[in-house]
Amino acid sequence: MSLPKIVVLTGAGISAESGIRTFRASDGLWEDHAIEDVATPEGYQRNPRLVQQFYNDRRRKLFDKTIYPNAAHLALAKLEEKLGKNLLVVTQNVDNLHERAGSKNLIHMHGELLKVRCEFSGKIYPWDKDVTPYDRCHCCTPPRPLRPHIVWFGEMPLHMEEIYDALAQCDYFVAIGTSGNVYPAAGFVQEAHRYGAKTVELNLEPSNVQSAFDEAYYGNATEIVPQFFSQW
Ligand code: OAD
Repeated sequence: MSLPKIVVLTGAGISAESGIRTFRASDGLWEDHAIEDVATPEGYQRNPRLVQQFYNDRRRKLFDKTIYPNAAHLALAKLEEKLGKNLLVVTQNVDNLHERAGSKNLIHMHGELLKVRCEFSGKIYPWDKDVTPYDRCHCCTPPRPLRPHIVWFGEMPLHMEEIYDALAQCDYFVAIGTSGNVYPAAGFVQEAHRYGAKTVELNLEPSNVQSAFDEAYYGNATEIVPQFFSQW
């Protein structure tokens, strides 16, 4: 029997039980912070220190001893051991919990907290500490400031060609822990469906694009994700 090709899209809900706040819950990140202040190029131009502080705080959190991958991240890593390159995980999350769980065929479409990039050349650097106003790149003369390697509203998500290629070829598209508020990710279900994939939503509650899925299972990711993928 040939192995199925699966594209999984993950969102903040998969990391919620690991202790990382989601965006749109009543205690979510967008309750305390205005999107236009901390997640837009204009906000960064207005107040780079505020924006760096927001991402510095979130980067630090990743090193908290209480934060580790949960059973849902681990289930995806285990599935990759069986399916190899037939499983692609596309995450909107900027944390590192998928890679800590062992996922390798992984795309961070909204960037990564553990990277920064040169504002001028776009060169990407690994980064595990706070970014200060004095940090500069090593690629430009004179050296330029470093910005978070995060896709902000109004910017193009990363690796879109590779993602759309995979959506066109997959047998299953599974969305986990995402509210379906942010495009283009929220439109992946329609794209995969158009090419004939079976589409499945695994979330705490119905998302904004719930009606586009063929099947849906609701509950905590640590329960429903390992359960769903145990069929392979
Ligand atoms: P949201 O905060 O919008 O949605 C999180 C989803 O996870 C919700 O539908 C919750 O019901 C669900 N959820 C919460 N706890 C869960 C659990 N334990 N198990 C399963 N599901 C759970 O986060 P995203 O959809 O990821 O972009 O947000 C998408 C993008 O919007 C983010 O990548 C970010 C944000 O603005 C940028 O910053 C560019």
